[in-house]
Amino acid sequence: MIYILGIESSCDDTAAAVCGNTKILANIIANQEVHRHYGGVVPEWASRAHQQHIIPVVETALQTANIKKEQLHAIAFTRGPGLLGSLLVGTSFAKGMAMGLGIPLIATDHLQSHILAHFIQDSENEKAVPAFPFICLTVSGGHTQIVLVKDYFSTEILGQTIDDAAGEAFDKAAKIMGMPYPGGPLIDKAAREGNPHAFSFREAKIPGLDYSFSGLKTSFLYFVRDQLKKDTGFIGKHTADLCASIQHAIVSTLMKKLLEAARVTGIRDVAISGGVSANSALQKAVKEAGEKEGWNVFIPPLAFTTDNAAMVAVSGYFRYLQREFAPLDIIPYSRQ
Ligand code: KG4
Ligand code: ZN
Repeated sequence: MIYILGIESSCDDTAAAVCGNTKILANIIANQEVHRHYGGVVPEWASRAHQQHIIPVVETALQTANIKKEQLHAIAFTRGPGLLGSLLVGTSFAKGMAMGLGIPLIATDHLQSHILAHFIQDSENEKAVPAFPFICLTVSGGHTQIVLVKDYFSTEILGQTIDDAAGEAFDKAAKIMGMPYPGGPLIDKAAREGNPHAFSFREAKIPGLDYSFSGLKTSFLYFVRDQLKKDTGFIGKHTADLCASIQHAIVSTLMKKLLEAARVTGIRDVAISGGVSANSALQKAVKEAGEKEGWNVFIPPLAFTTDNAAMVAVSGYFRYLQREFAPLDIIPYSRQ
């Protein structure tokens, strides 16, 4: 059994996980409350909070896994993309620990890790995993991509957003409605009571498999602003319908290109990953499309959709098998 400690600190979650091969033995996350009322992550605060959280989070992960640090074979960390100050905390911690223990350091890519979350085994029964090549819609707060996954580390981007990410569209719409950050899960919850066809917003028409979400956000902003001029209580009276309608617009945009990607490639193993893959309407739409189109659909368990270190540990395990180790002078990157 190969034991890997995974460390994730790319944005506002400090996370550590331990895996034995692809099986997760512990998956610990410390969320940061400080950003809630600022409509987004404040980078400087995020890196300070990572500094506070990293040691207790790693200690708890090792204790939960019942693994002594001397039993670890390697330390994997997220090298990027993400907030540089946040990434530096995880990177420096991983370097120090690997050096102290005299074991290899493994650098992982955050977006690849979101995709490799599909290979995590977390229960007694072996879970089915996608077969290569498969298509993965990676949708998070920072990225929206349709990726052709040829092998664990061989990927090709078929399409991606030219401006905002889908998660950003959720979060910005929530902010316009006065909800705290991150608004995606709150919109998902409120939308359950609403009518997705109550209001319609302008969806972008972008060629090929690329996306654009900034126009949708503006259309939502102007619509709400105009309604507020007529009735200052508009948001409160129509929260559920507003949430259901913006969610519908985002999900239908995501689905159109995903369907097109599956059709042009002829690939039938279709996965979704990243924070927005936790969205119940997106999950439902992918399952329905899967039934119609004859896809094998892969949706990660909730804990592995949003940022977590289990995906980093498993991604590290696959790199460990290839002996892909990082030098101690490696530095993080903020962009892909
Ligand atoms: O993958 P992730 O945790 O962090 C990044 O790598 O960005 O994704 C966070 C994003 C946020 O924009 C958050 O609002 C969104 O995922 N999100 C959701 C849901 N859960 C998280 N969006 C819609 N519905 C959800 N249930
Ligand atoms: Zn992420």
